[in-house]
Amino acid sequence: MENGEHLTFEFEQRPTIKGFPELRWTGKRPYRSTQYYPAQLRETYGSEQNGWINKIFWGDNLQVMSHLLRDYRGQIDLVYIDPPFDSKADYTKSIRIRSQNATSDVPAYESKQYGDIWNNDGYMQFMYERLILIRELLSDVGTLYLHCDWHQSAHLRCILDELFGLMNCHNVITWKRSHAQGNAGQGSQHFGIVTDTIFVYSKTGFPIWNQQYTEYSEETIKRDYKYVDEKTGERYRLTPVDGPGGASKGNPYYEFLGVSGYWRYSKQTMQDLYDKGEIQLSSTGKSLSRRRYLKDAKGTPVTDLWDDLNRVSPTSSERLDYPTQKPECLLERIIKTSSNPGSIVFDCFMGSGTTQAVAMKLGRRFIGADINLGAIQTTTKRLLSIAAELKLARKPVTYDMIKPQLSMVAEESAPYLAAASAGVDAELSAEDRGEVIDFYKARGGGKCLRFFGM
Ligand SMILES: C[S@@+](CC[C@H](N)C(=O)[O-])C[C@H]1O[C@@H](n2cnc3c(N)ncnc32)[C@H](O)[C@@H]1O
Repeated sequence: MENGEHLTFEFEQRPTIKGFPELRWTGKRPYRSTQYYPAQLRETYGSEQNGWINKIFWGDNLQVMSHLLRDYRGQIDLVYIDPPFDSKADYTKSIRIRSQNATSDVPAYESKQYGDIWNNDGYMQFMYERLILIRELLSDVGTLYLHCDWHQSAHLRCILDELFGLMNCHNVITWKRSHAQGNAGQGSQHFGIVTDTIFVYSKTGFPIWNQQYTEYSEETIKRDYKYVDEKTGERYRLTPVDGPGGASKGNPYYEFLGVSGYWRYSKQTMQDLYDKGEIQLSSTGKSLSRRRYLKDAKGTPVTDLWDDLNRVSPTSSERLDYPTQKPECLLERIIKTSSNPGSIVFDCFMGSGTTQAVAMKLGRRFIGADINLGAIQTTTKRLLSIAAELKLARKPVTYDMIKPQLSMVAEESAPYLAAASAGVDAELSAEDRGEVIDFYKARGGGKCLRFFGM
């Protein structure tokens, strides 16, 4: 049992509920347990702080999570995943190689980052098993955000209901990722697709939840905050102070500024608000209202329609040329809502490391994983540069544990880590290039074969 080498983790099955729909697919297999999967530490950046070091794993996330269960079962407050969407596409990224004597970069070859071509039912079993492991890793206040698009959203929703319970579904968010007309070109017979779906499920129904707000638009301010304080120039709006339902709702009855009635505040609270200059008598002297100042307003509570967060544009400074890279503002909203400083945030379909980058900036601990070497390269480089920026800006460290640090653990010993630490845009020797390409080819077998479509 040393180091948990022979540990088996068993998962509780949710009981079947009569009348509750359940998705079936050919080859659906129950996933009731997994074995501890040992991983090797390959590289470390930074040192442990109070027993914690942020972690990046290179490998299949099924194995990575089977490794994490030993130490992090029930410990992770937030999981965001943006898995392959079953979009039937092969994603590529062009790697720029500096020619031997030239000073300018030239795009040299397209490197396949990851494929998204599946056998019909393989995708569902693939996601089913991973979602079970994610549920096991989540803490009792933990939340999963699952990002997908129209290809598989209906099926994924059914699987999530089965594994997490419909009552633990908090939102189905529509993210309008583009203001362009989408992919409806001339002659196409569908409407332009400009949205993705993000499912929000909690482990227990009682997640960390910090309500988010967006700033009021000019139009809202002009419409709702139309009064201006004569003395301070502050904008405000007027809200009622009378108690709807009168005595039957338990509202107190008293006289204030010469007006008698049922009020929503006790007499003492009304007096306190008046002393702060917030209670106003109408010009007719017959009614009272309360001034609500714009400066004290939080903004508009965020709804389930996210149309204010644009995708990473071709000219954005955030752009890392990783296909399907998500914008940091999207992850910022998610991480701020469903985690607190010090929470562990996990993304096991990490890609370019957007989740990890934002987690680091917001003072959260993080774990990441990706099967693709390109993702490890991009994320490593990105995190190291954020760590350097944070250090330079001498940002206050909100939580002792969150000093910029990164460790890389690979599931197996491989020669490609040298290329990984060189960074994606770095000059790659012909030998390295060959190795990177071989790496993709070499990773056949089982799920990887299906995954890369090779
Ligand atoms: C849509 S991309 C994620 C993009 C990411 N959200 C970003 O902002 O850059 C999906 C990622 O999942 C990774 N992936 C697919 N299957 C995997 C598996 N079995 N284990 C680990 N990573 C996997 C792919 O390599 C790819 O980088």
